[in-house]
Amino acid sequence: MRDTYYITTPIYYVNDAPHIGHAYTTLACDVIARFMRLDGKQVKFLTGTDEHGQKVEKSAQAAGLDPKAFTDKVSQNFRDLAKAMNFSNDDFIRTTEERHIKSCQALWRRLLANDQIYLGKYAGWYAVRDEAFYGEGELRDKGGKKIAPSGAVCEWVEEPSYFFRLSAWQQPLLEFYEKNPDSVAPASRRNEVISFVKSGLADLSVSRTTFGWGIPVPDDPKHIIYVWFDALINYITAAGYPDTASDDYRKFWPADLHMVGKDILRFHAIYWPAFLMGAGLAPPQRVFAHGWWTNEGQKISKSLGNAIDPLELIKRYGLDQVRYFLLREVPFGQDGDFSGQAMVNRMNNDLADKFGNLAQRILKMIQKNCDGKVPEPADFTQDDRALLEAAEKLLPEVRKEIQQQSFHKVLDALWLVIGDGNRYVDSQAPWTLRKSGDLARMNTVLYVVAELVRQLAILCQPFMPESCGRMLDQLAVAPAERTFSVLTKAHALKPGTALPEPEGIFPKFVDTAAAA
Ligand code: MSP
Repeated sequence: MRDTYYITTPIYYVNDAPHIGHAYTTLACDVIARFMRLDGKQVKFLTGTDEHGQKVEKSAQAAGLDPKAFTDKVSQNFRDLAKAMNFSNDDFIRTTEERHIKSCQALWRRLLANDQIYLGKYAGWYAVRDEAFYGEGELRDKGGKKIAPSGAVCEWVEEPSYFFRLSAWQQPLLEFYEKNPDSVAPASRRNEVISFVKSGLADLSVSRTTFGWGIPVPDDPKHIIYVWFDALINYITAAGYPDTASDDYRKFWPADLHMVGKDILRFHAIYWPAFLMGAGLAPPQRVFAHGWWTNEGQKISKSLGNAIDPLELIKRYGLDQVRYFLLREVPFGQDGDFSGQAMVNRMNNDLADKFGNLAQRILKMIQKNCDGKVPEPADFTQDDRALLEAAEKLLPEVRKEIQQQSFHKVLDALWLVIGDGNRYVDSQAPWTLRKSGDLARMNTVLYVVAELVRQLAILCQPFMPESCGRMLDQLAVAPAERTFSVLTKAHALKPGTALPEPEGIFPKFVDTAAAA
């Protein structure tokens, strides 16, 4: 097992305002990146913006700006989103950066030298919105226009073009999927990819001549490198390509995980490994395609104007509440529907009533009855041990689920133990022990729950870093004592440690709009 972990998001088109879909993909990566760091790995977590192509050129024109000034301005929106969502990316790549242009041209030269690229002529259908070529058979007619399966309008394009010999990679790709069953996930998506490849692959046009906003083809600058070829290469640029002897490249390539939405799986699971293999480089270890969010049952689209702004959600519900909801509500990989009611239910039930309440009632009792210090436990009973053992079993279980990107199962497992904790408090009733004067037993119960909360807060950090950080502050857990290596008895809370005045971490949702 490598002790490094390289995870990437797609790089986002800058012409769109960031919405919940973009936030979702990067959030999923952020949780995995944080998890891996806490689990002792050296992590590289990359996100960024895809700034070339005809679509961006057109948007810049519409905004009355030259493309560079336009992308400088709008790519900032994605960096702002990363900050607002508390994403912990280690790098932010822009395809307009010098390092990327160099890397992209180097890969091109390498493919040319390997006879993987040749000059020909392209005649066919192109959808600017998707920046994708389509075969006649994939299109439908609507009002005299050709429409791609994605709904994008296609235009007929005829131009000289360089081609990548994708057709030659059908068999090697099928062998690659066969030998690496985990390389494309979930399984249903993997099957789709395999049947697409089995149906035959045509050579891929990888340059355009009819517009100018992109990376010039080396030694033939009339041609601009096709935006998807340009974009995919970002993943190796950030790992140091073309310097394959560099420390970063050796440590981080091949990437452990490319996280993408289901809309762009074909590019990542077919074209990308083929480009890499054609250049003699290793393909990524895994591509996971997640589902799409709809808004109150409706597809999110520009024309409907119903995009959900993550900044608005954060303002209304709180950052960690939104982070939790997005990964809890929908089994990762499936499509999901956003509804305000579902958000409030999760926020009030799972966070305020269950996790928040477990921590809050115990911390308050400790403050009042134990002089604000971690109480000294007496011998543990069977019930005490059972609860703490349930917590100790969590790490291997959630690690397994994170490796499968099953966020909902991780949260299920954690909340099962939170439920056990609340039932334990109810049945042990420390307030009754206090009244009856059994202070030794009361101290033990309070200690057991405080220790349980320490473990749960450490494990929940990747999902809700800020809130769990505050919970750990309230348990006076030192910042250096918050990685997964401390989930052992040896690091349990020390009796006598002074605790600060507790305050609620997960408030209930109050509808200020309705109250006003
Ligand atoms: N620039 C390309 C990707 C190049 S990667 C080498 C691109 N950009 S995009 O801005 O259109 O972003 C697409 C990604 O945003 C999707 O793959 C998905 O990760 C996310 N989402 C956009 N809308 C979404 C939803 N409605 N729901 C969930 N995620 C979606 O494609």
